[in-house]
Amino acid sequence: MSPENTGPAAVIVLAAGAGTRMKSRTPKILHEIGGRSLVGHALAAARALHPQELALVVRHERELVASHITALDPDARIVDQDEVPGTGRAVEAALEALDSRGPLSGTVVVTYGDVPLLTGQLLAGLVASHEADGNAVTVLTAVLDDATGYGRILRAAGGTVTGIREHKDATDAERGIREVNSGIYAFDAAVLRSALAHVTTDNAQGEKYLTDVLALAREAGGRVAAVVTEDRWQVEGANDRVQLAALGAELNRRTVEAWMRAGVTVVDPASTWIDATVTLDEDVRLLPNTQLHGTTTVARDAVVGPDTTLTDVHVGEGAKVIRTHGSGSTIGAHASVGPFTYLRPGTVLGETGKIGAFYETKNVTIGRGSKLSHLGYAGDAEIGEDTNIGCGNITANYDGEKKHRTVIGSGVRTGSNTVFVAPVQLGDGAYSGAGAIIRRDVPAGALTVSVAKQRNAEGWVLENRPGTISAALAEAAGATPPTSTTPAPTEEG
Ligand code: UD1
Ligand code: MG
Repeated sequence: MSPENTGPAAVIVLAAGAGTRMKSRTPKILHEIGGRSLVGHALAAARALHPQELALVVRHERELVASHITALDPDARIVDQDEVPGTGRAVEAALEALDSRGPLSGTVVVTYGDVPLLTGQLLAGLVASHEADGNAVTVLTAVLDDATGYGRILRAAGGTVTGIREHKDATDAERGIREVNSGIYAFDAAVLRSALAHVTTDNAQGEKYLTDVLALAREAGGRVAAVVTEDRWQVEGANDRVQLAALGAELNRRTVEAWMRAGVTVVDPASTWIDATVTLDEDVRLLPNTQLHGTTTVARDAVVGPDTTLTDVHVGEGAKVIRTHGSGSTIGAHASVGPFTYLRPGTVLGETGKIGAFYETKNVTIGRGSKLSHLGYAGDAEIGEDTNIGCGNITANYDGEKKHRTVIGSGVRTGSNTVFVAPVQLGDGAYSGAGAIIRRDVPAGALTVSVAKQRNAEGWVLENRPGTISAALAEAAGATPPTSTTPAPTEEG
């Protein structure tokens, strides 16, 4: 046993159901909240227990579901359920597969793939109580105002749990019970194995009910008990898109609250969305309408927002990111980005650097202290340190077939509206004049200018646009129409 597998013998996650109420071509458990699929949340909670075995039972959309699970957790075992329906059959299939390496003994936890707010902490509490009391079965329950549809917890006069009755099989009196089965349990493996062998499909739905195991375990002399949770969100399944959104909002509320308790300032929690996979340092400030997704990290004292969406972006200490849409990028310490900035994957901005308003960047490394302050595109490029890229500069990286690189050195100053026709390089300390179209390399320390010389055709407006306001105002300012003695256009450059 490796040190990280010190928990229960197994966790079995049931994920064979169809999820028809989602009305989707995507299998239900692949729908996402908080940046993870529903089954991804189930896996995270299960893994938090450090089980020796983790099995997921699949059937509906088998290939899609199995490949998604394997991508998330290569060590999880995928078990196929046959055509016999029911949660009991699903667990039986998993147990058979797990027993093939020698019969499991100890605690087996069963949970669902569509209960995304369940935490490893609540599961661990269930396992601890189950093991401390030496139970055969411990079921996680909740007391609901409206228990319609759920299995009801049957208790003897003294409170002992005697079994579970499915809604469809219940009498009117039993339907009055508000304590419900969450579908999450801890079982003793041997009890589970022998009880399942006796479960039949003799019920309203013609299914093998896992819930029948409780009464069978009691008949066999085992202790059956319940752990009641006050937190109904943790046992709530996502069955349709209304529930999915409600669970997503609650998960986000919890995530944002946890970060605030950890020292992050969130000015408007209601408009701040943080995936479960994001990491924030103390004294980060998040301004309204900020969404942080994927593997995004934000370091101490950085300010993000307002109106910013970052996916897989690393924000350095003390950096400022304002009204920005970014993905796959790294922003250095004390750098600034925005407003109205689009960072595409591969953007790496060095410490104290700047990518300002109306900039798009992609696959570009920008050195420490370099500034791209306004209006432009930098793609497939490398920019050195302390370089100033003028307003409206463009890397022309695409020749219609291939992408090419622009390499700009350190201490460079480019004029407004410079176009870098890649592949091209500018050496350290080079300058470019306004409007330069740079097609050839520029050596270190050179000034490059490439625009045509300027020509002034005097009186042109009076001759060619007579009767216009421009002509009238030009005449009032002393302009005269060209005559045979007017000098030819002068050139200045
Ligand atoms: C089940 C419980 C019920 C409980 C409720 C909580 C049984 C018989 N009933 O009812 O007591 O209150 O969950 O939500 O267990 N699944 C499979 N294979 C199957 C059938 C289901 O893997 O053949 C999986 C589903 O994907 C789902 C879970 O088991 O994740 C529950 O299935 P569902 O059909 O929703 O069970 P309920 O009838 O709601
Ligand atoms: Mg259900």
